[in-house]
Amino acid sequence: MIVIFGSINMDLVARVQRIARPGETVLSRRADSFFGGKGANQAVAAARSSRGGPIQVAMAGAIGNDPFGMACLKNLEDNGVDVSAIRVVDEPTGCAFITVDKSGENAITVASGANMALRSADLPDRLLSNASVLVLQMEVPIADTLEVATRARRAGIKVVWNFAPVPLVKERSAMAELLTATDVLVVNEHEALSIAGVLGESAGADFLEAGSAVSRSFGLTCIVTAGARGAYAVAPDGARTHAMARPITPVDTTGAGDTFVGVLAGGLAEGLEIGPAMERACAAASLSCLTAGAQAGMPQRDALEHYLAQA
Ligand code: RIB
Repeated sequence: MIVIFGSINMDLVARVQRIARPGETVLSRRADSFFGGKGANQAVAAARSSRGGPIQVAMAGAIGNDPFGMACLKNLEDNGVDVSAIRVVDEPTGCAFITVDKSGENAITVASGANMALRSADLPDRLLSNASVLVLQMEVPIADTLEVATRARRAGIKVVWNFAPVPLVKERSAMAELLTATDVLVVNEHEALSIAGVLGESAGADFLEAGSAVSRSFGLTCIVTAGARGAYAVAPDGARTHAMARPITPVDTTGAGDTFVGVLAGGLAEGLEIGPAMERACAAASLSCLTAGAQAGMPQRDALEHYLAQA
């Protein structure tokens, strides 16, 4: 089983010619709502790519007692995610305000709401003990996320932690505490450089050197996602692996990183090595960019296998 502990949002999305600068107003023809939240996105990506296979997916999260929350819950259920550890709390469901420009790039503001009420205790031992992989992000309380990671590591469960958005941690010791509880760190180029900066590593602008420094210092595998250039992994012994992204014309890159993380976790749970798991994750992330909305383009298992076989 894969367990995801993380955020659930409703995404309100406006397409714009270009993303507004501070103090500026830009017009969009309309707004659309999509299911989102890094945790929920990763759960759906993992569930779709695992469906029909041996791995089940469960999620612990928090939603409000409101129409957004109920719709998000039903969406997770419809995608085959075990929602028994999702709690309804007395705060509004998380909401993300997203603008997407004509090249598919986005800017996101998250109103966390119910997500900040999620606690480590919301993930029961009965669920965690069935997991082989735990997936975490940075959109719910960090202290509780760290506690869940520590519980999982104690039980011998692999912790895949996506440090996104990059934690607002300034001290080396606090960042080190999070990394010590991580087996596989997934970050984008900017996140890799920010983390190395907090750790006092001098990587300059070289995101792979930043990933190598983190991997070496904490004995973890660091995966850096690099958009159209695919993804790079650095193992604790310094060995590097690269997975290519497929050439696509993106419609919307929102959720591409989450697709990567969810499908990667699915591959690892099925026993794939890091290289093949990254190949699958990169292919799924490319596919996810072809449709508007974070989750709409995430491939089902059959479609992903078909796409991989074509290349
Ligand atoms: O990673 C994309 C996600 O970030 C969006 O779905 C939005 O909800 C924010 O959490």
